[in-house]
Amino acid sequence: MTDQFSKKAEAWSARFSEPVSDLVKRYTASVFFDKRMAKADIQGSLAHADMLAAQGIIPAADLAAIQKGLAQVSAEIDGGQFEWQLDLEDVHLNIEKRLTELVGDAGKRLHTGRSRNDQVATDIRLYVRSAIDDISGLLQQLRGALVDLAEKNAGVILPGFTHMQVAQPITFGHHMLAYVEMFGRDVERMQDCRKRVNRLPLGAAALAGTTFPIDRLRVAKTLGFDDVCHNSLDAVSDRDFAIEFTAAASLLMMHVSRMSEELIIWMSPRVGFIDIADRFCTGSSIMPQKKNPDVPELARGKTGRVYGHLMGLLTLMKGQPLAYNKDNQEDKEPLFDTVDTVVDTLRIFADMAGGITVKPEAMRSAALQGYATATDLADYLVKKGLPFRDAHEAVAHAVRACDDLKIDLAQMSLEQLRAFSPLVGEDVFAVLTLEGSVAARDHIGGTAPNQVRSAIARVRQQLAG
Ligand code: ARG
Repeated sequence: MTDQFSKKAEAWSARFSEPVSDLVKRYTASVFFDKRMAKADIQGSLAHADMLAAQGIIPAADLAAIQKGLAQVSAEIDGGQFEWQLDLEDVHLNIEKRLTELVGDAGKRLHTGRSRNDQVATDIRLYVRSAIDDISGLLQQLRGALVDLAEKNAGVILPGFTHMQVAQPITFGHHMLAYVEMFGRDVERMQDCRKRVNRLPLGAAALAGTTFPIDRLRVAKTLGFDDVCHNSLDAVSDRDFAIEFTAAASLLMMHVSRMSEELIIWMSPRVGFIDIADRFCTGSSIMPQKKNPDVPELARGKTGRVYGHLMGLLTLMKGQPLAYNKDNQEDKEPLFDTVDTVVDTLRIFADMAGGITVKPEAMRSAALQGYATATDLADYLVKKGLPFRDAHEAVAHAVRACDDLKIDLAQMSLEQLRAFSPLVGEDVFAVLTLEGSVAARDHIGGTAPNQVRSAIARVRQQLAG
């Protein structure tokens, strides 16, 4: 790994009497991974240089040289010609060194009134902010795809479960909309986190601020930050915003994972509620009949990895005294991997939602088993005047009888049902059907197909706005 990096003296080397070993160099360097923040680093440097010039801290000619040089650095990075050097430790020193090669002393003046400590904190905030925007957009795409799926199947009935036991009939549209709500809260959480991410650390310098007459508000404005961090020690040292982001990402993945679990169960031949398009599944190398729901399984697995990053970051932070410590360099890989995992997962899920085929007959026959309309019968008796607890008991007896006779409640005769309560009349059969059961739950948040349709309209409006 070391070989591709040419050997050059460290930016801080004048004070040192012996060089660090190659192992130490590799151990302390972060350029392998933090080069990913190169664009944010350049953006931050441009804003800093602009302010230095505006405040008369560097001459206007230096600003022009820095701008020109950084444009070239940026082009070299884009074109893959930039030569990243391990000896230069991190993304910041690599870019600064190249800039200085290109423009001379102006490049050496860029770091006036700045430290890598506030520089890196700024870069990470810029990086996380743009990740939040990408992820929020992808979440909305996924919500849109799930709404489409819900609309297509607004009236399809399947059993709803509690304790994995058949509970009450629900509509598939309603079930999908549950995830649309969850992912909606995930968007809200991301947006809320963005407010705390979007503050400028630059100006804190190493930890105590700087003796130069800087204008932090100008830099904040240039970089699109809502405000500056108001304490220099806090600005360079805390990574709570990154932890918060990873926590929001963990919750999001938890929702993805729950959904994955359901898709996997639903696709099992024993359940057979759905099929997932072949392009999201793989076969087995030994069992020719297999079609495995790999994508949801992997998403469920990758959830653990994001949770792990959350724990890693929390633990990274917990023992650190103020202000900056090198420990913080360890924040990046978990953060980057969280972003990669979440972005890929959301992209693939938004796509996969369109590849889900619902099998209404299988859902229906499952809903017809397990006395899914027992609560409807109890509610019916309550509406005829029986106290709910008594109704519950009467229906429990009816269910036991059905169990013995191996029939459903709706298959009992009027006389059979009346044996459990004389309040039962001809009109009972309407409430015992699956359609009657779902249609009756006709209020905001209920499973009735017309409620599902108005919920869909509400979300669509939200997504459009
Ligand atoms: N590579 C470092 C990081 O990721 C940048 C800041 C280093 N500052 C320092 N004084 N060593 O945190």
